[in-house]
Formats: sequence, structure tokens, C-alpha cells
Amino acid sequence: MDPISRFREAMSRAAQDAPFDPIAVSLATCTPDGRPSCRIVLVHEVDARGIVFHTNYAGRKAQDLEANPYAAITAYWPWLDEQVRLEGPVARVTTEESDGYFAVRPRGSQVGAWASLQSQPLDSRETLLARVQQFEEQFADGPVPRPENWGGYRLTPLRIEFWKAGEFRLHDRELFERAGDGWTVRRLYP
Ligand SMILES: Cc1cc2nc3c(=O)[nH]c(=O)nc-3n(C[C@H](O)[C@H](O)[C@H](O)COP(=O)(O)O)c2cc1C
Repeated sequence: MDPISRFREAMSRAAQDAPFDPIAVSLATCTPDGRPSCRIVLVHEVDARGIVFHTNYAGRKAQDLEANPYAAITAYWPWLDEQVRLEGPVARVTTEESDGYFAVRPRGSQVGAWASLQSQPLDSRETLLARVQQFEEQFADGPVPRPENWGGYRLTPLRIEFWKAGEFRLHDRELFERAGDGWTVRRLYP
């Protein structure tokens, strides 16, 4: 099985009887001068092209990605004791793809996307709630359009590592690296 399909399969196994959200993963980005930061995002889609998550295109992670379009994603499902690490270049998805996903989000989340100036300083929660109210009124008569600064990014993995906990810390690690149209695979010491 190719490693992207295998990641998808692991995620759907993790989804069975999941005590926590199996699509919540950590996303690390880096400034051009090498300062990393990390946060949780939700994986929206996994296919042969890569892994898609959505965010505000003006927030801190987006500023990192626009200047340095490489990222790393780590998924860990404690109830499986499995970790997957994916690394590679990142690019914005098409506006049609972002429109498509935005359109099926709950209305409250759509309004929230307008109200949030992600990662900018906020003087009080009341200010945020007032902005929510303002956009609810603005869009009261129809569908909420996608804000231009909200959309998806796709990470195209060049490197995917599967880690499975083993007894006495003799964990299993398999590293897949992109080679042309295919992948090489080798084991790593735990
Ligand atoms: C469970 C969980 C899911 C989240 N999902 C997303 C997401 O899909 N997209 C997103 O932009 N932020 C998401 N966040 C919030 C981010 O972790 C982060 O706080 C926010 O995106 C701002 O990050 P930045 O300042 O580095 O851009 C999520 C947080 C948690 C705890």
C-alpha cells in the first residue's frame, strides 16, 4: 500500500471508537529565518495529492507558509499508540476547492470565519462577539460567502514515517521517501 493510502487507512482505524478527534493533527511551520511554531489543525482531506487543512490566510501559520512553503504534520492516536509524520511543500488549494468546503460548513463557523482576524491581538471577547453579530446581520438575507482570506492548504508529502509502539521501546519505524513517481521505504532504529 502506498504511504498516503496507509495514512488514510490509519486515520480511519483511529476513527473507530475514537475518544478524541482522530483528524486533529499538529502542524509545524517555520519562518524563513528558521523559527518553528506548531499548532493543531483538522485534516479535511487526504488523497494522492496530499493532506488538506483549512485556515485563515492572514494568520501566523499562513504568514510562515507564504514565506516558507514547507511544513510538517504529526498525527498521534494514543488509543492506537501509532504516530505518523508527514513532511513536504505546501500550497494553497484552488479557490473552487476552498469555496466547496466553506459552503458545507455550519453557518456559525462561516460567520466565525468572517469575525476572526486570526492571530491578531483581540482586546476583549466582547469585541469578537460584536463582530460575529455584525456579520450575522450583514449576511442575514442569504448564504455566507467565503472570506477571501480563508481557505485550504495542501501539504504534498515527500517523507512519511509510520511509528508503531513496541514492547520495551522496540518500536517499529518505517520511513517512506518520495522517489520519482514512487516511494522508497526503509526501516529506522526506534
Ligand atoms: C482540536 C483543534 C482543532 C483546530 N483546528 C484548526 C483548523 O482546522 N484550522 C485552524 O486554522 N486552526 C485550528 N485550530 C486552532 C489552531 O490550533 C491555532 O490556534 C490557530 O489556527 C492559530 O494558529 P496560528 O496563529 O499559528 O496561525 C484548532 C485547534 C484545536 C485545539
